[in-house]
Amino acid sequence: PLVYLNGVMTPLSEAKISVLDRGFIFGDGIYEVIPVYGRKMFRADQHLARLFRSLDAIGISNPHSKEEWLALIAKVMDAHEADDQMVYLQITRGVAKRAHAYPKDVTPTVFIMTNPIVMPSAEAREHGVACVSMEDLRWLHCEIKSISLLGNVFAAQNAAEHGVTETIQFRNGYLTEASSSNVWIVKDGVLMGPPKDNQILEGIRYALIEEICAAKNIPFKACRITRDEVFAADEVMLSSATKEVLAVVKLDDQTIGNGLPGPIYKQLYAAYQLAKA
Ligand code: PDD
Repeated sequence: PLVYLNGVMTPLSEAKISVLDRGFIFGDGIYEVIPVYGRKMFRADQHLARLFRSLDAIGISNPHSKEEWLALIAKVMDAHEADDQMVYLQITRGVAKRAHAYPKDVTPTVFIMTNPIVMPSAEAREHGVACVSMEDLRWLHCEIKSISLLGNVFAAQNAAEHGVTETIQFRNGYLTEASSSNVWIVKDGVLMGPPKDNQILEGIRYALIEEICAAKNIPFKACRITRDEVFAADEVMLSSATKEVLAVVKLDDQTIGNGLPGPIYKQLYAAYQLAKA
């Protein structure tokens, strides 16, 4: 497959960056993951807005206008045979002599690739998935979509070692998010998610879920959620670009609700499919 790297379309196997790239040396960069359905980006405006916020947050000046970004992504998308894709964009501060502080006069490294989107299985959709819990030991700028992901890698590895879908993290007894998804609970018909602050990445699905709740008259509340509240919830679910919304029916050794995907999950899932179409 062809990828975009610093101004050129090139085969993935030939795309090379310097070992002095600050993404490689310091994890000094940001990324974005955009789902594509039927060759059309889903929520492109929101994903690009978040990309621009991430660049701004780490002081990288945006190398392209929105129209240029859309054209570059379209080039990579069009070069791939799959209709449903997952576009990955990464921008690092660039190549410079190794020194921690931001170097002057450096050109950002821009990389774009795409892969066929991998969706949850029919089995996961129908029966829900299991998760495990762990203390959130990441840094306190989780709102930035940073490529420094070792904390998230630990959480994902923990899930893999337990043979489950995700690790749901708690910081000082309060729900934050999973390794690469946001987490939601339902209690007595009210959908709740953690506040949009520095402890979570605000998923592009966050606003979408709020919109669906408003349209379907599902009460929604952003609030701090305790560990006990998660285990005692009627429903728990995950959201992300690739999971869309996905019901969690088991957490550690405990069953969530009645152990089946619940009614609010089903409503959100159905509305999500309509939004995509
Ligand atoms: N991850 N929280 C974290 C830590 C994430 O990495 C992600 C997405 C989300 C959900 O965001 P969104 O709804 O915009 O996908 C929440 C992507 C998919 C990834 O890293 O591959």
